[in-house]
Parts: sequence; structure tokens; C-alpha cells
Amino acid sequence: MQKDPLIKVDNVKKYFGSTKAVDGISLQIEKGEFVALLGPNGAGKTTLVEMIEGIQKPDKGEISIKGLLWGKNDKEIREVIGLSLQETHFIDKLRVDETLALFASFYSLPKSRIETALEMVGLEVKRKTYTKNLSGGQKQKLALGIAFLNQPEILLLDEPTTGLDPSARREVWDILMNMKREFNTAMILTTHYMEEASYLCKRIIMVDKGKVLARGTLEQLLAEYKNGEIINFEVDSGIDEKVFKELGHYLSINLQENNKKGEIIVESLVNYMPALLKYIEQKSLKLSAIECRKMTLDDLFITLTGRHLTE
Ligand SMILES: Nc1ncnc2c1ncn2[C@@H]1O[C@H](COP(=O)(O)OP(=O)(O)OP(=O)(O)O)[C@@H](O)[C@H]1O
Ligand SMILES: [Mg+2]
Repeated sequence: MQKDPLIKVDNVKKYFGSTKAVDGISLQIEKGEFVALLGPNGAGKTTLVEMIEGIQKPDKGEISIKGLLWGKNDKEIREVIGLSLQETHFIDKLRVDETLALFASFYSLPKSRIETALEMVGLEVKRKTYTKNLSGGQKQKLALGIAFLNQPEILLLDEPTTGLDPSARREVWDILMNMKREFNTAMILTTHYMEEASYLCKRIIMVDKGKVLARGTLEQLLAEYKNGEIINFEVDSGIDEKVFKELGHYLSINLQENNKKGEIIVESLVNYMPALLKYIEQKSLKLSAIECRKMTLDDLFITLTGRHLTE
């Protein structure tokens, strides 16, 4: 008999009036896997994650966790998941250790778990601090500590690093990687940051308007766009659009300021770039900027939707 996947989401839909928050998403997650749901504001990430957490109910489709269903096996499911919501509000008048103790009591966990959680998220020195006096980053770490208290097989984290500075974000990443290493924890994490998705997660699911746009490893996603490379240029006089076609094959082009400025995505920089530079020289155009770089997930997102991930 085949084992049930850790998480199975099967063609799930959730509509709010005419808003299709989640519009037919399926996914599967195995033990120890870190998966990112990457998408802009309003993509449907929170709605999807909250359905997996049992906080919201799908209108259609089915979600099972280790073969268990919300509404039938709630207690068993709660034992295997740990979660942090997009915005966590703590009780101001409780200290860090008291907050953890409160949550530990919900699960009837031993006191030692509080220490493990404090250590795991690096908040030992703040144990006696009132939650209202924690910095944003420390609050996020406390939320992770709570999610981790029952040492769950699955962590469901909704934007665990939004609003953090780059170094605090790194610290959260380290904490999550440690959990994975030590406990083989699986995780679904929602994020707007492609660096976060690609650093932490082997698999990335790009969502927008309630649907999956693309999924795979970072390499697979970029390879779908033939590992495109991007040329940004700026010249002093507009170039006729048809010239760019004559110079060579490109995947997409976006011209601005009467064609004086633009971005061209090409399959092969070494084929396209010399032709472009030669044209500029022949026409005696003045080149004020030129930049080449590898395509990123954000570029891929723009190509797919015409918008930025973090707009
Ligand atoms: N309770 C609700 N009632 C009505 N509309 C809702 C409700 N919850 C979510 N929506 C709508 O569903 C869509 C998806 O929202 P959701 O919060 O899942 O997006 P998200 O990807 O988490 O966005 P963000 O990155 O901003 O957190 C949005 O258009 C939102 O306005
Ligand atoms: Mg959200």
C-alpha cells in the first residue's frame, strides 16, 4: 500500500463573493521537504495556508495531512503541525517564557520544551522580557518558537520574515535550516521574496490570483524560460522596434522612453550582445548604460504576469 503524502491538497477552491482567492490549487509535500509559496499581495497564499491549517474551510476540493482530514481527525492533525500566522499578536503583559508556557500548556507539553524552543530561536536572553518590548525580529522569532513547541513534523509559516531587516531575516533562515537538519521538519512558507524561496526551499510554487503559475526547483523554473539572460540598455536616440528582431532571436522585449531605453530577454547573450553593440556603433548612437544579468524569479514573474512580485 502506498503511504499517504505528508500534505495533500487536491484541487482546492475558496471564493469570497466574486474574488477567487484560491482557484483550484493542488500540491503535495513529503516528509522533510521545504516548499515556498511565492506570490504578490492578494495571490491567495494566506487563504491556502489557512485552509491547510484548518482555520478556513475549502469551498471545493480536499486537504489531507498524513491521510487525516480536518473535521474528522482535528486532534491528530494538530499534533503534527506547528504554525505561525501572517500577523501574530502576543499578550503584552506576558513575558517571553510565560508566553511559551501558555502555548505549551495547550499541548500539555513538558517544561523542557520551553527551553528547547527558546534555544532553537535564540531568545534565551530575552526570556524575562515582556512581549510588548520585543523588537519586530524578536517577535517573529517568538512566533517561530511557539510554532516549534510541539516539535511538529510540519511547519506552516505565513511570511515569517516580512518586515525584517536583512540580518534578522538571515537569522530566521538559519533557525529554519537548523529545524530541518535536527528534526527533519517539513515546511510550507509563504513569501514575497524570491531570495528567501530559493535559499530555503528546494521546491517553489509561484501563485497569483488563486492559481499556480509555475512550480519546480529554481533551476527548473528558470529553465522553463531557457535560462534567459537580460540586457538593459539606454541610448540617446530611439531605435526602431523591428531592428531588435533583425539583430537576433530574443524571448521578450520591453521598450521605454520612445525606444531609447529597454530590456531584452535573450537566450544567448554571446549571440545577441555583439550584434546590438555593432548596431549602436554603426548608427553612431551614444550608449549611456548597458547591463547584463541572469534572469531571476522576479523577472520570470514579470514575464508571466506583467507585474513584480513585490509590487
Ligand atoms: N475573509 C475574506 N473576505 C473577503 N475577501 C478575502 C478574505 N480573505 C481574503 N480575501 C481576498 O482573497 C484574496 C487572497 O487573499 P490572501 O490573503 O489569501 O492573499 P495573500 O497571497 O496572502 O496576500 P498577502 O501577500 O498580501 O498576504 C485577496 O483578493 C483578498 O482580498
Ligand atoms: Mg497573506
